[in-house]
Amino acid sequence: MFERLKALPADPLLGLITLYRDDPNPNKVDLGVGVYRDEQGHTAIMKAIQQAQKTHLSTEDSKTYIGPMGVPGFVDGIKKLILGESSKALSAGAVAGIQTPGGCGALRVGFETLRRLGDDLTVWVSDPTWANHIPTIRASGFETQAYPYFDANTGLVNYEAMDEQLAKLGKDDIVLLHGCCHNPTGADLSFEHWQRIAERAVKQGFIPFVDIAYQGLGDGLESDVKGVRHLSEQVDEMVIASSCSKNFGLYRERTGCLIVQTENQERSAALQSQIQDVARANYSMSPAYGGFLVDLVLSSPDLRTSWEDELNAMATRVKSLREGLLAEIKQRNVSQDFDFITQQKGMFSYLNITKEQVRQMRDEFSIYMADSSRINVAGLNLSCLGYVADALKKACG
Ligand SMILES: Cc1ncc(COP(=O)(O)O)c(C=O)c1O
Repeated sequence: MFERLKALPADPLLGLITLYRDDPNPNKVDLGVGVYRDEQGHTAIMKAIQQAQKTHLSTEDSKTYIGPMGVPGFVDGIKKLILGESSKALSAGAVAGIQTPGGCGALRVGFETLRRLGDDLTVWVSDPTWANHIPTIRASGFETQAYPYFDANTGLVNYEAMDEQLAKLGKDDIVLLHGCCHNPTGADLSFEHWQRIAERAVKQGFIPFVDIAYQGLGDGLESDVKGVRHLSEQVDEMVIASSCSKNFGLYRERTGCLIVQTENQERSAALQSQIQDVARANYSMSPAYGGFLVDLVLSSPDLRTSWEDELNAMATRVKSLREGLLAEIKQRNVSQDFDFITQQKGMFSYLNITKEQVRQMRDEFSIYMADSSRINVAGLNLSCLGYVADALKKACG
């Protein structure tokens, strides 16, 4: 039987890892895989997480199941981190939530739950969107459509084109939005855009589904969710999938949270039972470990300060790499305009160069990035900025 299942092509981004690893060039630069790296190219365990691990190890006295919702303090902490301490929906008890295996788990449980609303809903994703969105949404039983988002001429969002599409949507539509630090483009919605999306959602009745995997890595923990909080204040119903992979550095611990805002406490209880039921049928319960650590970090003032400081330092480093790269590009009078690099947010940037130029940078300079020209800005360091700018000059003229 198994001969019917053919080997699938390798994930192109994972293929880049192997190519990079085997490249003997001492100047090689890895801008492919989307993990945060420090100046030495290392993805370190955050200090607050290290401390929380020690505390957890010394206090955990059982490995028994913790229940379908996951670590309750973690779920409450993430709800507050995203929606804010003064969220009306939270104080009304109208928000359901569950710990999930990473942000991917939150996306999958969220979409599978929405699938229970009926057969005729369509999910709209930004063009382009993160590579794993469409497979996850389709595996949850939905068709996907794309709304215009990225403007290749400016490197920013083409909101008028996006709005034109949103204006045509209604109650049978779900709109997936990136909470901040859009992956793959780095082109973010402004607060005014979020206000307009909220107006559209209220008027037309589509369900906003926010994926937030980089809170704190753009303009800061609070600023990065200003738009999401506004949306939450305006609409009755929305879904949020959150990931602790990047902002807590918990990648392999698979730590995420699904949040469902409903109209009132009674509906929230119903949704709580639904999301737990979807999770139960998939993997029963989420791994707990990362949730314990995040709960400790968020609830202990010292650990929280340490975490926020380190996260701010990471975001500042990414911003200064953006500025440094642009300055080096400008010094070389590269023909193409790259000003958008400093206007984009978070770890990613679409360089807006062709696949041929991407390959040229790889073949001649050992600079590795996705064929789409998405770079992980955190993969840069101060000593390679000039080298990357040289390669861009050679590729673009
Ligand atoms: C846009 C976006 N959403 C969700 C995730 C989920 O990540 P994880 O499942 O590793 O927490 C990622 C990770 O790269 C992402 O970029």
